[in-house]
Amino acid sequence: MKRLSIFSCLLLIAFAANAQETNKLIVDANQGKVVINKNIYGHFAEHLGRCIYDGIWVGKDSKIPNTDGYRTDIVNALKDMKIPVLRWPGGCFADTYHWQDGIGPLNKRAKMMNYHWGGVVENNTFGTHEFLNLCEMLGCEPYISANVGSGSVVEMTQWIEYMNSDKDVPMANLRRQNGREKPWNVKYLGVGNESWGCGGNMTPDYYVNLLRNYSEMAGIYGQWKLKQIGCGANSDDYNWTDVVMKERPGSISGLSLHYYTIAGSGWGNKSAATGFEKKYYFSGLEKALKMNELVEKHSAIMDKYDPKKQVGLMVDEWGIWTDVEPGTEKGFLFQQNSIRDALIASLTLDIFNNHADRVKMANIAQTINVLQSVILTQGNKMVLTPTYYVFKMYAVHQDAKLLPSQLIAEDYEFDGRKIPALSSSVSEDQNGNIHVSVTNLNPDKEIVLSVELVGKSFEQVKSASVLTAPEYNSYNGFDAPEVVKPVDFKNFKKINSSSLQITVPSKALVVLEMK
Ligand code: AHR
Repeated sequence: MKRLSIFSCLLLIAFAANAQETNKLIVDANQGKVVINKNIYGHFAEHLGRCIYDGIWVGKDSKIPNTDGYRTDIVNALKDMKIPVLRWPGGCFADTYHWQDGIGPLNKRAKMMNYHWGGVVENNTFGTHEFLNLCEMLGCEPYISANVGSGSVVEMTQWIEYMNSDKDVPMANLRRQNGREKPWNVKYLGVGNESWGCGGNMTPDYYVNLLRNYSEMAGIYGQWKLKQIGCGANSDDYNWTDVVMKERPGSISGLSLHYYTIAGSGWGNKSAATGFEKKYYFSGLEKALKMNELVEKHSAIMDKYDPKKQVGLMVDEWGIWTDVEPGTEKGFLFQQNSIRDALIASLTLDIFNNHADRVKMANIAQTINVLQSVILTQGNKMVLTPTYYVFKMYAVHQDAKLLPSQLIAEDYEFDGRKIPALSSSVSEDQNGNIHVSVTNLNPDKEIVLSVELVGKSFEQVKSASVLTAPEYNSYNGFDAPEVVKPVDFKNFKKINSSSLQITVPSKALVVLEMK
């Protein structure tokens, strides 16, 4: 007969005896084995709307303070948020992008049409050097998305040689000619983006054969040091994952997954980013929670073919997709960002943390001025969105050991539907600090949560902060940029050396550090 651990016994007791104490977080504090890959806190920047131009890049001659063309305020804010990895140049754009157009003297760079995003003319001012130098400034890993949809194996392998070779070979010499002696040693390479859609409209069988070819050649040119990420499924297309994982070329170390939250009834009716009714607050959170099911079901398929979990699930596009702000240019996807979106971010990051054995990277879409951005700009003004603060508060989980936990939570009910009112994750950093993050999704009610550490004690809560807002749809506008901002949090009580009680305000997330 299987023996129960102290943790399981405590769980049973909690379920049986504490019927009236509905909200309880039990942490198996001695059982941390898996490290939360910091790349779960990654971002994505596409040549789309004002993400790159007018967002990250303003050019050296701009009146907006910049460092070699990059907006100084943005560089500082991204560093402060501890951005670990940045995906570029797309998205759909990547499968129309030819990297050689974006190198060399600016006045000689070829122009191209940005067919997917507004049909604007891309002048390729921001290319490989500008992107990789940005990553160096930010201290983050670059993640390059190669063109499989309209490119070729030759184009991809030449790009790898250009970025990573230190030998006397043609592409490395071209790089030197363009002013960069040392290779950048790019580690992450995406082999196709949405190959089932804008990246070529392929079937999984067709894609997996292409992947074999691209991946083998990327492996050879990358001297096997590159971590290749194969194109994975659109949302719940489990067949795609099954086909790719079954045939999995030996050299891929990740498979992507894309899932966007649409609070409205569908792509044609997404709902507004601000001023929305409460039903869209609820449906946004409800639909974001589907990420848990997606991660678990795709992981189960991956487990079948890769029980040792050598291939990471890389959720390299996620976030809420709403209507654009009034006046946005066609195809620019500029949306505001409310406290609801911050809660979507925190509950999603909890899901990734809690599945850190399989989820090795995630990239919220997109960094600046596009979809669920962490930063918005207008002229020389910059706004840090509520989502920005989630990433900043959650940075404590980066590369920390996940502590397995069990959350027992009451429901948040709305209009006859219900979701768990709480979300959480717990980790221990290299200095022995335990970080607990808890989100209360209920917009109308604070919730008292008991936290029980099993197998460890703590002396004190060293620090704590909270992010909440006056209304369920509050946001930071250019004229009122500090409506939603983290502040110190005091509403907790140490019960004994292993337990704590936290009163989490409505529509809020709290991060506590215990030692
Ligand atoms: O993030 C916007 C777009 O959404 C990306 O370009 C594409 O990959 C996805 O469909």
